[in-house]
Amino acid sequence: MASKSRILSASDEQALTACVQHLKAGDLVAVPTETVYGLAADALNYAAVQHIYTTKGRPSNNPLICHVAGPAMAAQYVDVPPLAETLMNAFWPGPLTLVLPLLKNAGIPDSVTASLNTLAVRCPATEVTRSIIEALDSPIAAPSANPSGQISPTCAKDVQDAFDGHIPLIIDGGQTDIGIESTIVAVEDNAITLLRPGSVTPEEIENVVGVLPTTYKKTTIVAPGQLASHYAPNAAVELNVTSPKSGTFHIGYGAQTGDLNLSPKGDLSEAAYNLFSMLKEADQKTSGTISIAPIPEEGIGIAINDRLRRAAAPRT
Ligand code: TXA
Ligand code: MG
Repeated sequence: MASKSRILSASDEQALTACVQHLKAGDLVAVPTETVYGLAADALNYAAVQHIYTTKGRPSNNPLICHVAGPAMAAQYVDVPPLAETLMNAFWPGPLTLVLPLLKNAGIPDSVTASLNTLAVRCPATEVTRSIIEALDSPIAAPSANPSGQISPTCAKDVQDAFDGHIPLIIDGGQTDIGIESTIVAVEDNAITLLRPGSVTPEEIENVVGVLPTTYKKTTIVAPGQLASHYAPNAAVELNVTSPKSGTFHIGYGAQTGDLNLSPKGDLSEAAYNLFSMLKEADQKTSGTISIAPIPEEGIGIAINDRLRRAAAPRT
């Protein structure tokens, strides 16, 4: 096996320089964000971006999010209509990804967009990662730093468990604040389409721009990452379980106790924060079935249930 990945704390003064050096050399680096850890490459480097797909085992038709330092960097690569500009000003830096028309000849390789004519842009809240993008002076393409289809990483150790020795550097920013991936919306003229629910809710978006995002109805796969089976542990997963059978590993919520509890006080943000780490822990502790208590379908609970349905979907 290849030698181990180096892990540097985000507060280590070497972290930024080392990370930028690797990115410039076309290497992959794992970086923290407020949602989940990303597996990053210089978005303008075709070969480095290809390497993301092979490292994750990601289908080549599943485009990547470009992480930018702010609205000005985004505008170098995508067309930003006024509605999108308002969203950027309101929610960036933060967990809202915008899918916008790609500017041709801006230098984004086809592998980032999977040859679509749109590009997903996001400005992460985590300061070290924005500083890395600023110092690199180009966006970083970064999907979640997990093998395709598996549980997303919420700490440096998760990344290490998945990719140790396969990437030269992991920047350790501690446990991620939010714990589930960003909300993704496509913005077209005056319409907003929700492609993936996250911690930024449609109501919060409506409060800012007066337009309620509509939910995307699948006809073709516009966001191929939205495949039915995803975030999957090894164990089978059963949802909305109110009376767990003996022998199953039960993850409770609120008053409903279990082997673990996503949030004893019934706080949905806390449940999102704990979701992936508890799924991973459950998976390590049982080879049987993981059952999960009902999670209220409101606010960030909608995003939690979206991830849980994919975790429970028949594996392909
Ligand atoms: O919170 C996040 O968004 C994390 C952190 C690392 O930033 N990233 C993340 O990336 O979740 P990933 O690759 O796991 O999910 C990206 C999703 C996929 O479902 C992909 O299909 C969708 O974004 N996507 C990317 N570009 C798109 C585009 N042009 N049109 C529609 N969907 C797109
Ligand atoms: Mg992912």
